[in-house]
Amino acid sequence: MTHPTENAPDPGLQLHFRSCLGAFATGVTIVATRAPEGDAVGLTVNSFNSLSLDPPLVLWSLRRVARNANLFRAAGHFSVSVLAVGQLALARHFAVSAPDRFAGVAHHEGLGGCPLVDAAIAWFECETVSVQELGDHLLFVGRVLRCARVPGLPLVFHQGDFGRTIALDPEA
Ligand SMILES: Cc1cc2nc3c(=O)[nH]c(=O)nc-3n(C[C@H](O)[C@H](O)[C@H](O)COP(=O)(O)O)c2cc1C
Repeated sequence: MTHPTENAPDPGLQLHFRSCLGAFATGVTIVATRAPEGDAVGLTVNSFNSLSLDPPLVLWSLRRVARNANLFRAAGHFSVSVLAVGQLALARHFAVSAPDRFAGVAHHEGLGGCPLVDAAIAWFECETVSVQELGDHLLFVGRVLRCARVPGLPLVFHQGDFGRTIALDPEA
């Protein structure tokens, strides 16, 4: 007979796992889409990454219990705005629950009506090609239809804190 707690995740192990993942510094993005009723929806995401150059594919993952999980699943497109170091407030804003996160946030509309955050340093406009349920997340793969970038330094996320890059002396 299986003990009910036998398959429960070990909280100590989860903390350790998260801490180890935190050693991997990432950029910070806002991933967004457009709801059928017309609302712009998005959230702060650091699971964004490159997947393939030919064809151009990117990926990100979304907690299955996220408020807009079904909406992202059903949407044919998503956008990714890579935040600049000066956009820490936006990263925080898009990581807490609010009815309309895009209200008062400067943005413009991209392919599929997906909102692109102004003053970001790069944008990817994607067509969703695959959504997979894996563990407690949904893995989204998008084909990049259009991307752009402007000069600027990225906002960084490392070990649970936001930061900035410091270039190393190439001669050192
Ligand atoms: C730096 C940072 C990165 C995050 N990355 C992700 C991510 O990759 N996937 C995810 O589902 N949530 C991520 N989150 C959490 C979501 O932004 C947060 O839970 C958000 O409120 C979810 O949207 P919802 O409230 O509409 O469900 C991240 C939060 C922060 C601060």
